Amino acid sequence: MKIIAYGIRDDEKPYLEEWVKDNKIEVKAVSELLDSNTIEQAKGYDGVVAYQQKPYTDDLFDKMNEFGIHAFSLRNVGVDNVPVEALKRNNIKITNVPAYSPMAIAELSVTQLLALIRRIPEFDAKMARGDFRWEPDIALELNQMTVGVIGTGRIGRAAINIFKGFGAKVIAYDVFRNSELEKEGIYVDSLEELYRQVDVITLHVPALKDNYHMLNDEAFAQMHDGVFVLNFARGSLIDTKALLKALDSGKVAGAALDTYEDEVGIFDVDHQNDPINDPVFNDLYSRRNVKITPHAAFYTKPAVKNMVQIALENNKALIEKGAARNEVKFD
Ligand code: COI
Repeated sequence: MKIIAYGIRDDEKPYLEEWVKDNKIEVKAVSELLDSNTIEQAKGYDGVVAYQQKPYTDDLFDKMNEFGIHAFSLRNVGVDNVPVEALKRNNIKITNVPAYSPMAIAELSVTQLLALIRRIPEFDAKMARGDFRWEPDIALELNQMTVGVIGTGRIGRAAINIFKGFGAKVIAYDVFRNSELEKEGIYVDSLEELYRQVDVITLHVPALKDNYHMLNDEAFAQMHDGVFVLNFARGSLIDTKALLKALDSGKVAGAALDTYEDEVGIFDVDHQNDPINDPVFNDLYSRRNVKITPHAAFYTKPAVKNMVQIALENNKALIEKGAARNEVKFD
């Protein structure tokens, strides 16, 4: 059995090498991303492992089929950049890594919220210019706030536990309810109900056609003034222009974002000599009450180890048995 793994970064290599040593399976690590040019390198391999944010194009799967490859394993969770029809027509099975570290995402989202409500960006800026006074940057306390968690999968549940640890009141919305949380009576019946009650909204749902721009003008209008918005899920969930208006009006007091709807080409790129040419993003980024991280919530040592090793394990299972624990099935 031979596997080819695309887009392998230096920080992933030790985990890949450890897996190769334990499993005695040949894995070729390629630093380039998977695209129409690099797919040629997959000829002669039995399975493909990849991770990238840029879209996987249809032709990649036509080529895999031509090369006799029917096992495709992602090192991440989101499958929104994969063309489902091309997979199906080429009879290619796909796996993801659904739980490489829910805590990695949840911890950063809460960290950024705490920074916002404790006015850390304001104190950092003031102190950098020598002003060590308190006023006017009086803070809020998380233990006094109501947090609305949208999406109660693994990441949403990890976030709920952290928020509860801080003493916040937590309510949640999900179309698929978790039985334990249901027993606790945490769920509200509609998003409208959640929007009306919360001081903080945190998004933990996958990107779907139905939830494109779920936080839009209409949604913001239902919230009270001074709400905080966290998006550590997918950029498409927020209408960024509506968020900017809500920040201008004070409807939204602050936002922490690890994702942005047009992030490909902006995040995980060195812009020191290549300024970002996206006025909407630049407006967002210029604001002290908006904290942005470059889709880096996942980027912890435990998470990266799991992403690499679980993806390889999945790919091996698909090749050997035509089935794997983390196979993603589309209707
Ligand atoms: C995912 O796992 O789908 C993510 O969003 C994290 C990715 C940047 C590795």
